[in-house]
Amino acid sequence: RPLRGLGAAGLALILAGCSGRQSALDPAGHEARVVGDLFWWMLIASVVIWALVMAFSFYASHRRGEPWSSRAAARVILICGAILPTLLLAILLVLGLRLMPMLRAPGEELRIAVEGQQFWWRVTYELPDGTRVSSANEVRLPRGRRTEFVLTAQDVIHSFWVPPLAGKMDLIPGMTNRLVLEPERTGRFRGACAEFCGASHALMALDVEVMEPDAFEAWLQSRRTPPAPPRTEDGAALFLANGCGACHTVAGTEAAGRVGPDLTLLSERPSIAAGILPNNTDNLVSFIRNTRDIKPGARMPSFAMLSPEQAASIAHWLLTPRSGTAGTRRADAT
Ligand code: CUA
Repeated sequence: RPLRGLGAAGLALILAGCSGRQSALDPAGHEARVVGDLFWWMLIASVVIWALVMAFSFYASHRRGEPWSSRAAARVILICGAILPTLLLAILLVLGLRLMPMLRAPGEELRIAVEGQQFWWRVTYELPDGTRVSSANEVRLPRGRRTEFVLTAQDVIHSFWVPPLAGKMDLIPGMTNRLVLEPERTGRFRGACAEFCGASHALMALDVEVMEPDAFEAWLQSRRTPPAPPRTEDGAALFLANGCGACHTVAGTEAAGRVGPDLTLLSERPSIAAGILPNNTDNLVSFIRNTRDIKPGARMPSFAMLSPEQAASIAHWLLTPRSGTAGTRRADAT
Protein backbone atom coordinates (compact mmCIF):
# COMPACT_ATOMS: atom_id res chain seq x y z
CA ARG A 1 0.00 0.00 0.00
CA PRO A 2 2.72 2.55 0.83
CA LEU A 3 4.34 1.51 -2.44
CA ARG A 4 1.14 2.22 -4.33
CA GLY A 5 0.95 5.66 -2.68
CA LEU A 6 4.54 6.33 -3.67
CA GLY A 7 3.80 5.28 -7.25
CA ALA A 8 0.76 7.55 -7.42
CA ALA A 9 2.78 10.44 -6.00
CA GLY A 10 5.54 9.82 -8.52
CA LEU A 11 3.08 9.71 -11.39
CA ALA A 12 1.41 12.91 -10.18
CA LEU A 13 4.82 14.57 -10.05
CA ILE A 14 5.66 13.48 -13.57
CA LEU A 15 2.28 14.54 -14.95
CA ALA A 16 2.54 17.90 -13.18
CA GLY A 17 5.12 18.78 -15.82
CA CYS A 18 2.47 18.35 -18.52
CA SER A 19 0.43 21.41 -17.62
CA GLY A 20 1.13 24.93 -16.52
CA ARG A 21 2.40 28.17 -17.95
CA GLN A 22 5.66 26.80 -19.30
CA SER A 23 4.56 23.46 -20.72
CA ALA A 24 4.81 22.48 -24.37
CA LEU A 25 2.26 19.75 -23.65
CA ASP A 26 -0.44 22.21 -22.59
CA PRO A 27 -0.52 24.29 -25.79
CA ALA A 28 -2.10 27.74 -25.90
CA GLY A 29 -1.13 28.53 -29.46
CA HIS A 30 -1.52 27.06 -32.93
CA GLU A 31 2.20 26.36 -33.49
CA ALA A 32 2.67 24.73 -30.09
CA ARG A 33 -0.40 22.56 -30.67
CA VAL A 34 0.90 21.30 -34.01
CA VAL A 35 4.33 20.61 -32.50
CA GLY A 36 2.64 18.97 -29.49
CA ASP A 37 0.59 16.70 -31.77
CA LEU A 38 3.74 15.68 -33.59
CA PHE A 39 5.35 14.87 -30.24
CA TRP A 40 2.44 12.56 -29.30
CA TRP A 41 2.61 10.78 -32.66
CA MET A 42 6.34 10.28 -32.20
CA LEU A 43 5.80 9.04 -28.67
CA ILE A 44 3.14 6.54 -29.75
CA ALA A 45 5.34 5.33 -32.61
CA SER A 46 8.32 4.95 -30.26
CA VAL A 47 6.26 2.96 -27.75
CA VAL A 48 5.01 0.61 -30.45
CA ILE A 49 8.53 0.11 -31.82
CA TRP A 50 9.91 -0.43 -28.31
CA ALA A 51 7.21 -3.04 -27.58
CA LEU A 52 7.94 -4.86 -30.85
CA VAL A 53 11.68 -4.91 -30.19
CA MET A 54 11.12 -6.18 -26.64
CA ALA A 55 8.72 -8.89 -27.84
CA PHE A 56 11.16 -9.95 -30.52
CA SER A 57 14.09 -10.08 -28.09
CA PHE A 58 12.02 -12.13 -25.68
CA TYR A 59 11.01 -14.50 -28.46
CA ALA A 60 14.60 -14.81 -29.68
CA SER A 61 16.02 -15.54 -26.24
CA HIS A 62 13.35 -18.13 -25.35
CA ARG A 63 13.09 -19.85 -28.67
CA ARG A 64 13.98 -23.54 -28.74
CA GLY A 65 14.76 -25.84 -31.63
CA GLU A 66 16.74 -25.46 -34.80
CA PRO A 67 18.57 -22.15 -35.38
CA TRP A 68 17.41 -20.04 -38.33
CA SER A 69 19.04 -20.52 -41.67
CA SER A 70 21.47 -17.74 -42.56
CA ARG A 71 19.10 -16.69 -45.33
CA ALA A 72 16.17 -16.23 -42.97
CA ALA A 73 18.37 -14.33 -40.54
CA ALA A 74 19.61 -12.02 -43.30
CA ARG A 75 16.01 -11.29 -44.34
CA VAL A 76 15.00 -10.39 -40.79
CA ILE A 77 18.01 -8.09 -40.42
CA LEU A 78 17.26 -6.41 -43.76
CA ILE A 79 13.59 -5.82 -42.96
CA CYS A 80 13.76 -5.00 -39.26
CA GLY A 81 17.19 -3.41 -39.21
CA ALA A 82 17.17 -1.36 -42.40
CA ILE A 83 13.90 -1.05 -44.33
CA LEU A 84 11.53 -0.52 -41.39
CA PRO A 85 13.68 2.08 -39.57
CA THR A 86 14.35 3.96 -42.81
CA LEU A 87 10.64 4.06 -43.59
CA LEU A 88 9.67 5.20 -40.10
CA LEU A 89 12.37 7.86 -39.92
CA ALA A 90 11.40 9.11 -43.40
CA ILE A 91 7.77 9.47 -42.27
CA LEU A 92 8.82 11.40 -39.15
CA LEU A 93 11.16 13.58 -41.22
CA VAL A 94 8.37 14.50 -43.64
CA LEU A 95 6.00 15.26 -40.75
CA GLY A 96 8.64 17.49 -39.16
CA LEU A 97 9.65 19.28 -42.38
CA ARG A 98 6.01 20.05 -43.13
CA LEU A 99 5.88 22.19 -39.97
CA MET A 100 8.90 24.32 -40.79
CA PRO A 101 7.37 26.80 -43.29
CA MET A 102 4.53 27.42 -40.83
CA LEU A 103 7.00 28.45 -38.14
CA ARG A 104 8.73 31.06 -40.26
CA ALA A 105 6.28 32.83 -42.56
CA PRO A 106 7.22 36.54 -42.55
CA GLY A 107 5.09 39.53 -43.42
CA GLU A 108 2.69 39.54 -40.49
CA GLU A 109 1.07 42.79 -39.50
CA LEU A 110 2.15 42.75 -35.87
CA ARG A 111 5.91 42.66 -35.51
CA ILE A 112 7.82 42.41 -32.28
CA ALA A 113 11.58 42.65 -32.23
CA VAL A 114 13.23 40.67 -29.47
CA GLU A 115 16.93 41.09 -28.81
CA GLY A 116 18.66 38.65 -26.49
CA GLN A 117 21.36 39.91 -24.15
CA GLN A 118 23.17 38.42 -21.18
CA PHE A 119 20.75 37.92 -19.38
CA TRP A 120 17.53 39.62 -20.43
CA TRP A 121 15.29 40.40 -23.41
CA ARG A 122 14.85 43.75 -25.16
CA VAL A 123 11.33 43.88 -26.56
CA THR A 124 10.24 46.40 -29.22
CA TYR A 125 6.77 46.48 -30.77
CA GLU A 126 7.13 47.76 -34.33
CA LEU A 127 3.83 49.37 -35.31
CA PRO A 128 2.80 49.62 -38.99
CA ASP A 129 3.11 53.42 -38.93
CA GLY A 130 6.74 53.21 -37.82
CA THR A 131 6.16 53.88 -34.13
CA ARG A 132 8.23 51.75 -31.78
CA VAL A 133 7.09 50.82 -28.30
CA SER A 134 9.87 49.65 -25.99
CA SER A 135 9.70 47.17 -23.17
CA ALA A 136 11.80 44.41 -21.66
CA ASN A 137 11.35 40.88 -20.37
CA GLU A 138 7.61 40.93 -20.99
CA VAL A 139 5.68 40.37 -24.21
CA ARG A 140 1.99 41.06 -24.65
CA LEU A 141 0.16 39.42 -27.53
CA PRO A 142 -3.35 39.48 -28.97
CA ARG A 143 -5.26 36.21 -29.07
CA GLY A 144 -6.06 34.85 -32.53
CA ARG A 145 -3.63 37.05 -34.43
CA ARG A 146 -0.44 35.93 -36.11
CA THR A 147 2.52 37.79 -34.71
CA GLU A 148 5.99 37.86 -36.18
CA PHE A 149 8.99 37.88 -33.88
CA VAL A 150 12.18 39.34 -35.30
CA LEU A 151 14.96 37.75 -33.27
CA THR A 152 18.50 39.09 -32.87
CA ALA A 153 21.27 38.92 -30.28
CA GLN A 154 23.86 41.40 -29.00
CA ASP A 155 26.51 39.20 -27.47
CA VAL A 156 26.19 35.41 -27.68
CA ILE A 157 23.64 32.92 -28.95
CA HIS A 158 20.38 32.78 -27.01
CA SER A 159 17.18 30.94 -27.84
CA PHE A 160 13.64 32.28 -27.62
CA TRP A 161 11.23 29.67 -26.32
CA VAL A 162 7.70 30.11 -25.02
CA PRO A 163 6.72 26.42 -24.83
CA PRO A 164 2.92 26.86 -24.64
CA LEU A 165 2.93 29.06 -27.78
CA ALA A 166 5.55 27.77 -30.22
CA GLY A 167 8.78 25.95 -30.77
CA LYS A 168 12.11 27.55 -30.04
CA MET A 169 14.18 29.76 -32.30
CA ASP A 170 17.80 30.82 -31.79
CA LEU A 171 18.89 34.44 -31.53
CA ILE A 172 22.29 34.67 -33.17
CA PRO A 173 24.64 37.69 -33.22
CA GLY A 174 24.88 39.10 -36.74
CA MET A 175 21.78 37.26 -37.93
CA THR A 176 18.07 37.94 -37.97
CA ASN A 177 15.77 35.00 -37.36
CA ARG A 178 12.01 35.03 -37.56
CA LEU A 179 9.31 33.17 -35.70
CA VAL A 180 5.60 33.43 -36.31
CA LEU A 181 3.04 32.34 -33.77
CA GLU A 182 -0.67 32.63 -33.17
CA PRO A 183 -1.93 32.39 -29.58
CA GLU A 184 -5.25 30.57 -29.21
CA ARG A 185 -6.19 31.40 -25.66
CA THR A 186 -5.58 34.21 -23.23
CA GLY A 187 -3.45 33.80 -20.16
CA ARG A 188 -0.08 34.37 -18.63
CA PHE A 189 2.74 32.17 -19.83
CA ARG A 190 6.43 31.84 -19.21
CA GLY A 191 9.19 31.68 -21.72
CA ALA A 192 12.86 30.98 -21.19
CA CYS A 193 16.20 31.20 -22.89
CA ALA A 194 16.79 27.75 -24.34
CA GLU A 195 20.46 28.02 -25.31
CA PHE A 196 23.26 28.08 -22.77
CA CYS A 197 24.53 31.66 -22.83
CA GLY A 198 26.58 32.16 -19.68
CA ALA A 199 26.53 32.12 -15.90
CA SER A 200 22.91 33.27 -15.60
CA HIS A 201 21.44 31.39 -18.55
CA ALA A 202 18.96 29.70 -16.22
CA LEU A 203 17.92 33.14 -14.94
CA MET A 204 16.86 34.49 -18.32
CA ALA A 205 13.11 34.08 -18.41
CA LEU A 206 10.32 35.98 -20.08
CA ASP A 207 6.73 36.80 -19.14
CA VAL A 208 4.13 36.47 -21.87
CA GLU A 209 0.58 37.69 -21.57
CA VAL A 210 -1.98 36.82 -24.23
CA MET A 211 -4.81 39.34 -24.17
CA GLU A 212 -8.13 39.71 -25.96
CA PRO A 213 -7.45 41.60 -29.23
CA ASP A 214 -9.40 44.72 -28.16
CA ALA A 215 -7.63 44.95 -24.82
CA PHE A 216 -4.27 44.41 -26.51
CA GLU A 217 -4.93 47.12 -29.08
CA ALA A 218 -6.01 49.57 -26.37
CA TRP A 219 -2.91 48.76 -24.33
CA LEU A 220 -0.56 49.15 -27.30
CA GLN A 221 -2.13 52.45 -28.38
CA SER A 222 -1.81 53.78 -24.85
CA ARG A 223 1.89 52.92 -24.88
CA ARG A 224 2.69 54.93 -28.00
CA THR A 225 3.25 57.82 -25.64
CA PRO A 226 3.90 56.35 -22.22
CA PRO A 227 2.46 58.28 -19.30
CA ALA A 228 5.11 60.32 -17.50
CA PRO A 229 6.38 59.14 -14.12
CA PRO A 230 5.56 61.07 -10.97
CA ARG A 231 8.07 63.88 -10.62
CA THR A 232 7.82 64.66 -6.97
CA GLU A 233 9.68 61.70 -5.55
CA ASP A 234 13.23 61.46 -4.22
CA GLY A 235 13.59 58.20 -6.10
CA ALA A 236 13.73 60.00 -9.43
CA ALA A 237 16.57 62.22 -8.24
CA LEU A 238 18.50 59.28 -6.76
CA PHE A 239 18.01 57.25 -9.92
CA LEU A 240 19.50 60.01 -12.04
CA ALA A 241 22.21 61.02 -9.54
CA ASN A 242 23.54 57.45 -9.41
CA GLY A 243 23.86 57.26 -13.16
CA CYS A 244 21.09 54.68 -13.68
CA GLY A 245 19.94 56.72 -16.65
CA ALA A 246 23.17 55.99 -18.50
CA CYS A 247 21.98 52.41 -19.01
CA HIS A 248 18.21 52.51 -18.50
CA THR A 249 15.45 54.45 -20.19
CA VAL A 250 12.52 55.84 -18.24
CA ALA A 251 10.33 57.69 -20.72
CA GLY A 252 9.41 61.15 -19.54
CA THR A 253 12.74 61.69 -17.76
CA GLU A 254 16.34 62.37 -18.79
CA ALA A 255 17.09 58.66 -18.39
CA ALA A 256 17.54 57.45 -21.95
CA GLY A 257 20.23 54.75 -21.73
CA ARG A 258 20.13 51.89 -24.22
CA VAL A 259 22.44 49.43 -22.44
CA GLY A 260 20.00 47.84 -20.00
CA PRO A 261 16.27 47.09 -19.94
CA ASP A 262 13.78 49.91 -20.51
CA LEU A 263 12.22 50.59 -17.10
CA THR A 264 9.46 52.92 -18.27
CA LEU A 265 6.51 50.77 -17.26
CA LEU A 266 8.20 48.44 -14.83
CA SER A 267 5.19 48.66 -12.52
CA GLU A 268 3.09 46.83 -15.13
CA ARG A 269 5.35 43.80 -15.41
CA PRO A 270 4.68 40.71 -13.32
CA SER A 271 8.34 40.08 -12.57
CA ILE A 272 11.70 41.80 -12.42
CA ALA A 273 15.21 40.76 -13.43
CA ALA A 274 13.98 38.83 -16.52
CA GLY A 275 11.31 36.66 -15.00
CA ILE A 276 13.16 35.50 -11.92
CA LEU A 277 11.65 37.54 -9.06
CA PRO A 278 8.04 38.57 -8.42
CA ASN A 279 7.72 42.28 -9.02
CA ASN A 280 7.56 44.05 -5.67
CA THR A 281 9.50 46.76 -3.85
CA ASP A 282 11.42 44.37 -1.58
CA ASN A 283 12.67 42.27 -4.46
CA LEU A 284 13.62 45.33 -6.46
CA VAL A 285 15.55 46.82 -3.54
CA SER A 286 17.39 43.58 -3.08
CA PHE A 287 18.12 43.32 -6.82
CA ILE A 288 19.45 46.88 -7.01
CA ARG A 289 21.81 46.32 -4.06
CA ASN A 290 22.87 42.70 -4.78
CA THR A 291 22.56 42.48 -8.54
CA ARG A 292 25.56 40.27 -9.14
CA ASP A 293 24.71 37.88 -6.30
CA ILE A 294 21.21 37.41 -7.64
CA LYS A 295 22.31 37.33 -11.27
CA PRO A 296 25.95 36.25 -11.66
CA GLY A 297 27.60 37.71 -14.74
CA ALA A 298 25.07 40.52 -15.15
CA ARG A 299 26.48 43.69 -16.69
CA MET A 300 24.78 45.81 -14.05
CA PRO A 301 26.99 46.19 -10.98
CA SER A 302 25.58 45.69 -7.49
CA PHE A 303 24.63 49.11 -6.13
CA ALA A 304 25.61 48.12 -2.59
CA MET A 305 26.70 51.70 -1.87
CA LEU A 306 23.04 52.71 -1.80
CA SER A 307 21.46 52.42 1.63
CA PRO A 308 18.37 50.21 1.81
CA GLU A 309 16.32 53.39 2.22
CA GLN A 310 17.80 54.96 -0.89
CA ALA A 311 17.28 51.79 -2.92
CA ALA A 312 13.72 51.60 -1.59
CA SER A 313 13.13 55.15 -2.70
CA ILE A 314 14.29 54.33 -6.25
CA ALA A 315 12.28 51.10 -6.29
CA HIS A 316 9.19 52.87 -5.07
CA TRP A 317 9.51 55.49 -7.77
CA LEU A 318 10.03 52.89 -10.54
CA LEU A 319 7.07 50.86 -9.33
CA THR A 320 4.60 53.69 -8.86
CA PRO A 321 1.78 52.91 -11.30
CA ARG A 322 1.51 55.42 -14.10
CA SER A 323 -1.87 57.07 -14.07
CA GLY A 324 -4.08 57.03 -17.12
CA THR A 325 -2.97 56.90 -20.69
CA ALA A 326 -2.76 60.61 -21.38
CA GLY A 327 0.76 61.10 -22.59
CA THR A 328 2.97 63.71 -21.02
CA ARG A 329 5.80 64.56 -23.33
CA ARG A 330 9.40 64.49 -22.30
CA ALA A 331 9.64 68.28 -22.49
CA ASP A 332 7.12 68.47 -19.65
CA ALA A 333 9.29 66.51 -17.28
CA THR A 334 11.63 68.30 -14.98
CU1 CUA B 1 20.30 33.55 -22.94
CU2 CUA B 1 20.62 31.30 -22.31
